[in-house]
Amino acid sequence: MDYKDSAWQDSMRIRLDYTNMTADAIGEEHGITDKQLDDLQPITDEIHRQLTERRKAGELAFMDLPYQSKESLSKIIELSKYVRGKFDNFILVGIGGSALGPQALHQALNHPYYNLLSKQGRNGSPRIFFTDNVDAGKLKGLLDIISWDKTAINVITKSGSTAETMSNFLILRKALIDAVGEENYAKHIIATTDPKKGALRQIAVSQGYAALDIPPGVGGRFSVFTPVGLLSAAVCGIDIRQLLAGAAYMDKLCQSGKLRDNPAYLNAALLYLADTAKNKRICVMMPYSSSLQYSAFWFAQLWAESLGKKYSVSGDVVNVGQTPVGAVGATDQHSQLQLYIEGPFDKVITFIRVQDSGYNIPIPLAFLQQEGISYLGGHDLGELLLAEQTATALALKSNKRPNCTISIPKLNAFTMGQLLYMLQVQTAFAGSLYGINAFDQPGVEQGKQATYALMGRIGYEDKKLEIEDKLAKQNKWAV
Ligand code: PA5
Repeated sequence: MDYKDSAWQDSMRIRLDYTNMTADAIGEEHGITDKQLDDLQPITDEIHRQLTERRKAGELAFMDLPYQSKESLSKIIELSKYVRGKFDNFILVGIGGSALGPQALHQALNHPYYNLLSKQGRNGSPRIFFTDNVDAGKLKGLLDIISWDKTAINVITKSGSTAETMSNFLILRKALIDAVGEENYAKHIIATTDPKKGALRQIAVSQGYAALDIPPGVGGRFSVFTPVGLLSAAVCGIDIRQLLAGAAYMDKLCQSGKLRDNPAYLNAALLYLADTAKNKRICVMMPYSSSLQYSAFWFAQLWAESLGKKYSVSGDVVNVGQTPVGAVGATDQHSQLQLYIEGPFDKVITFIRVQDSGYNIPIPLAFLQQEGISYLGGHDLGELLLAEQTATALALKSNKRPNCTISIPKLNAFTMGQLLYMLQVQTAFAGSLYGINAFDQPGVEQGKQATYALMGRIGYEDKKLEIEDKLAKQNKWAV
């Protein structure tokens, strides 16, 4: 059925089960009461009014990305066709918000062993590699296996000068030039950056790279539905129109200012109350799906960088923010879960559950005399995973540990669009509940400035001296 069909869309609607967050389920000490939610309604009305106004004024550009113009989508699709037609390898260079969204989409929607498939098995798409760290061994490894005549690079940086991204890019660019020649190399590069500002934009113009715009009002961690996430998705054959349709569908579900009618607001309110009223300072996201592990990392960045703030919007020192932790089920049942169930009462867990994995893999009947394993035979592998998620949620509940479950009917571009959009709106709303600016990252900027200074960037000489002085005073060495 076509993704535009409304019955199909409704059948793919993701849902939030928050039963185990409530005082009814786990008691008042750790669970949220109806009254606590009701008491948040007046402030929710005000925040909803403000967010709606800011959106109308174009200040929340990420919210309108599901409806971006045909021209901007066509440009992405055209470039993706160019890459698919010409190259066998696609290297995405970025970091933070300029890499996590693309990786989340790739892992969720492409074959788990995508790069090992034949080109035909990948429906003509190139292999994809992510360079999202400064790691000499990993970069050298990539250089060892790449054949440059068939390789494209997508360098992504909103600011245009992030040290990690640009260093990796400069190294890859040099290797590319050495292989294909100065006169040919630009055809292999696509820059995704601010439309006007920054060093990368200037380089792209001067060198003649193809370039895509990150809309100025969209910050890195809110940019998955811009060319940051969309180009690599389209290159790998993901239906980006369907992805955006899923985001638009979720946008419709998030129109209400009533907490209980708006899944993004409700989830934000529950996590906010868990933190501020019940001391749950740690927020675990635990998808029961290896395909969603990167989505948990992506969410961790979104929640941490948006909400972890020193100052409120009115300038008071507040030092707020819940610490996000990514886990994956069932694997982390055998690693983290003991702590979640019996450790400190400082966590709230959000599960993601995929109802239909899309595969039937029956567990064979065998060793029937071994009662410890014979019961497994005849069940489906997906059934086992869902049973484990249900069992874990119940075990947490019976130990008075708040948890909720986002249920996804099936993993596809439409449901991923819903999920990622909901979590972004949830984060923006949570920022308003905390009374902080969810869209800046002064702490990250401090780290960037210090790196520039240590690496000798012009204009950072005083900063360098200040840091060197501090380093000289570090004298507590254990060995
Ligand atoms: O969300 C953010 O703004 C950050 O995580 C950035 O994405 C990250 O620091 C990379 O920045 P840039 O895209 O400017 O290279």
